[in-house]
Amino acid sequence: MKPISLTGIKPTGKPHIGNYLGMYRPALDLMKKYQGMYFVADYHALTTMHDPETLKELVYEVAASWLALGLDPDEAIFFRQSDVPEIPEFTWILSCFTSKGLLNRAHAYKASVDENLALGRDPDEGINAGLYNYPVLMAADILMYGSDVVPVGLDQKQHIEITRDIAEAFNRTYGPVLKVPEGIIQDSVMKIPGVDGQKMSKSYNNTIPIFAPESEVKKQVMRIVTDSKRPEDPKDPDDNTLFTLLSFFVSAERLEQIKRLFIHGGAAYGELKKELAVTILTHFTEARDRYTALMNDRAYIDKVLQEGARKAREMGQPYLSAARKATGID
Ligand code: TRP
Repeated sequence: MKPISLTGIKPTGKPHIGNYLGMYRPALDLMKKYQGMYFVADYHALTTMHDPETLKELVYEVAASWLALGLDPDEAIFFRQSDVPEIPEFTWILSCFTSKGLLNRAHAYKASVDENLALGRDPDEGINAGLYNYPVLMAADILMYGSDVVPVGLDQKQHIEITRDIAEAFNRTYGPVLKVPEGIIQDSVMKIPGVDGQKMSKSYNNTIPIFAPESEVKKQVMRIVTDSKRPEDPKDPDDNTLFTLLSFFVSAERLEQIKRLFIHGGAAYGELKKELAVTILTHFTEARDRYTALMNDRAYIDKVLQEGARKAREMGQPYLSAARKATGID
């Protein structure tokens, strides 16, 4: 059997091209060398998302996105985190090997505390224990199946380090029971700019969505911030959001041409934006069709996720029972 690559994605809305280039595509590429495990992290979402209908809808959206963007459920193990009831059980066991200080230093928790302090509030105001324990739940996700590698964005690097710490602490106590995973960090190469030039992120409201109506995709592309240079003026392609975004989607040949137009004059921003919009829409034509079909067939998505959960539980069983046995709780 191939080594295991596992990744979880929080259901937080429709994916944009930044997610695609930085996360979906590299994670799916790993399928060539690894047995891929992909799951929708709905328990993690519950730390912040408290509207049941929205949460349910987001789970379908993110599941349909993965399937539409090329995840093959016959090859990969694709499931919903909460369909594996052993996960919370394992989380508890692991939490007994997690130093509280480690969680105090976790970025997301610390950021909330710092914000409270800056506003003169109680440090823990509005922070639930789920958010605090978020890294332990994530360690359970990873360690449960003996994952070898975990592809994640740079923002998740600390979570992988915490996972390794927890596994090592457990193994120090009981011997080598848990596999200590490696992170595969998708870093700077994939700093995809949003339409305003900052990193593309839902929180900056600068994304180019993949599955939105055509008019919305176009509208976002037309919003890409450019300077006031005229078409005939020479421009620096290396410091240009439009050029950077084009570079991910046009052919190498076309990119060379555009680059020459930038350097020697002749690049018209308006025209190039139109070209980018068309190129993106063409690139995702099939994925967009599949997405619509999937969202209209939720029974199919349910079936895929249930079958995936069955396999995931089977994969997790030996690790959980080894951990239970090691601790004396078997
Ligand atoms: N915390 C991750 C994120 O916000 C999602 C996640 C949950 C995850 N469990 C995981 C990622 C396990 C990798 C492995 O993006």
